[in-house]
Amino acid sequence: MRTTTFLSFVLAGVVFTSCQPSTKREAWIEKALDVASYQLNLTAEEMKDSVKMPRSLWTGYTVDFLEEQLERESATFADSLWPNPAKEKLGTLRSCDIYDWTSGFFPGSLWYAYELTGNERLKEEAIRYTNRLYPVRKYRDNHDIGFMMNCSYGNALRLAPNDSIISVLSETADNLCSRFNVQIGCIRSWDFGTWNYPVIIDNMMNLDLLFHVSKLTDDMRYRQVAIQHARTTMKHHFRPDYTSYHVVSYNADGTVEKRQTHQGKNDESAWARGQGWAVYGYTACFRETGDTLFLQEAVHVADMIRKRNTAPDLICYWDFDAPVKADTPRDASAAAVIASAFLELSTFVPNGEVYFNYAETILKNLSGPAYLAQKGTNGGFILMHSVGSLPHGSEIDTPLNYADYYYLEALKRYLDLKNKPF
Ligand code: GLY
Repeated sequence: MRTTTFLSFVLAGVVFTSCQPSTKREAWIEKALDVASYQLNLTAEEMKDSVKMPRSLWTGYTVDFLEEQLERESATFADSLWPNPAKEKLGTLRSCDIYDWTSGFFPGSLWYAYELTGNERLKEEAIRYTNRLYPVRKYRDNHDIGFMMNCSYGNALRLAPNDSIISVLSETADNLCSRFNVQIGCIRSWDFGTWNYPVIIDNMMNLDLLFHVSKLTDDMRYRQVAIQHARTTMKHHFRPDYTSYHVVSYNADGTVEKRQTHQGKNDESAWARGQGWAVYGYTACFRETGDTLFLQEAVHVADMIRKRNTAPDLICYWDFDAPVKADTPRDASAAAVIASAFLELSTFVPNGEVYFNYAETILKNLSGPAYLAQKGTNGGFILMHSVGSLPHGSEIDTPLNYADYYYLEALKRYLDLKNKPF
């Protein structure tokens, strides 16, 4: 284990908030941060008069391509496809409103880029775009409010604290807890669809908001909800090989109604980003609780990822069970989430170097020409080549605001750890 204890890692966010790069950094990191700052400032300027957030670029697809990747007959999924955008929209910015699940990532990226560079203009933009989300504190229609508000306001509190941010985060945490069912022991993810009580693995990512607010308010209730959700999910979401289902729906008595996928190749496949959410979520749960069952789960999932991620450069194929062909899309967002999670995990285990080195390889590859955008291209996003939801024909081989967010977070974690001995 690194000389840092898990407690000091929790405090790292506070210790490293001077927002001044202290020592000379490696050339690939300087380049990455230069591109990131340029792209984020460009997008912030372009969207300054909008009420929306940048999400991705519109992509097109052919049904033949989807059939091949899904290894299904078209008749079984064509009805559920989201409409193809008109030709003139292809490659243009796909923005989203503040109630979209991804709305917190652009402000969050601005905060991380500010923290990594000390560039005051990025801070001004971070404040501007975070404030845009203020109405979301009243929203309770899905579980994603954890992502939305902790990535934006949560980082704002770390880097530019004020009391009103605490009340925004607390109100959001109350709304997230209102979606918790004691009998089932989970927060409900979605209100759409035919499932009785759907919970998706992505929901593990919303627990950080609850841990955060528990510490801010000294109210254990938020933390108890997070812990119970993580325990229930650990019991029902994982297969014996530690791959995770995407959706588990529960009956009212807490028994499982069904296990399915929404964004993966099929119900029994290992959707890449879902595996990333799982290792990230359980690593965070260990950081916050010290419960070694959560650490064991994170390590099992991490080791499964190391085995199942067969992409030569470690930038995952969109689903670990996708047929590997020359045109099988990579998901840079999954790789960025995994890198960020592995860096934190590396601080908690005796063989941390294994996870650190894996994350380092991902980060170096994401920072190379195959994935890092040239300044002024890629619609103003930082990374190319992610996948939103292939079964819906949506956001395939495109930049995504959350790929950029977890990439910057991973760079921050990497720099914090780089010069510490194991
Ligand atoms: N949370 C939705 C996704 O990962 O696409």
